Amino acid sequence: MGDVTMRIWRGDQNGGQFVDYTVPEVEGEVVLDVVHRIQAGPAPDLACRWNCKAGKCGSCSAEINGKPRLMCMTRMDQLPTEEPIVLAPMRTFPIIRDLVTDVSFNYVMARQLPPLKPRDPEPDGTYRMQQVDVERGQEFRKCIECFLCQDVCHVIRDHEENKPHYAGPRFFIRYMELESHPLDTNDRRELLRQRMGIGLCNITKCCTEVCPEGIKITDNAIIPLKERVVDGAYDPIAWLGRKILRR
Ligand code: SF4
Ligand code: F3S
Ligand code: FES
Repeated sequence: MGDVTMRIWRGDQNGGQFVDYTVPEVEGEVVLDVVHRIQAGPAPDLACRWNCKAGKCGSCSAEINGKPRLMCMTRMDQLPTEEPIVLAPMRTFPIIRDLVTDVSFNYVMARQLPPLKPRDPEPDGTYRMQQVDVERGQEFRKCIECFLCQDVCHVIRDHEENKPHYAGPRFFIRYMELESHPLDTNDRRELLRQRMGIGLCNITKCCTEVCPEGIKITDNAIIPLKERVVDGAYDPIAWLGRKILRR
């Protein structure tokens, strides 16, 4: 095996540049392994966030050759090594240092989510749910909060000014998870339409393409949410029907 060159963005909020690091290729590695070898060798001060190295903590998000991906789940043998592999921080969020970004925008959006408001219990004090209704939201619970979908969505990636009123795909699936909960009675339609900006999404599906958990963000969350918001504005009976029938 030969050598591999990683072209890594180095810098902070005041600016930076790409720096090349060449290390020997090692069979079976993922991008994060190579970053760790660079930290252990030529660049001990290289900042990078990671925790599990198993695709489950959502910490090691970055842009690899221009595509938002998890560094720990991107195998080196899937990347062309004739040219340097370009490793950059997520562009949508402010830089802290090197590959580490400040993702607190997402926590601000999370705090604005109206929580589950369960209907009254049965006369015997219990809640009963059909298994089929419970399963409807399971797909959305797979989210590892890597924020790659938020990073790729052009509504905030290319328009910083949209951030205060756009929740983004990660939170549209959370809204849908709550909306499809069989006990929920909360009405989030106005919030979604006015302050969470569901209308700004033009269904490009880039979020679905980058999701490492394979969540069908656009088809299973955003499009149904858009339908509910439209029903709420123009056909409240249909909205009520959906809520009662859980469709
Ligand atoms: Fe990551 Fe997918 Fe969750 Fe978005 S929906 S934060 S891409 S796991
Ligand atoms: Fe953005 Fe996904 Fe819509 S990438 S535009 S939220 S389909
Ligand atoms: Fe946890 Fe990559 S280190 S997802």
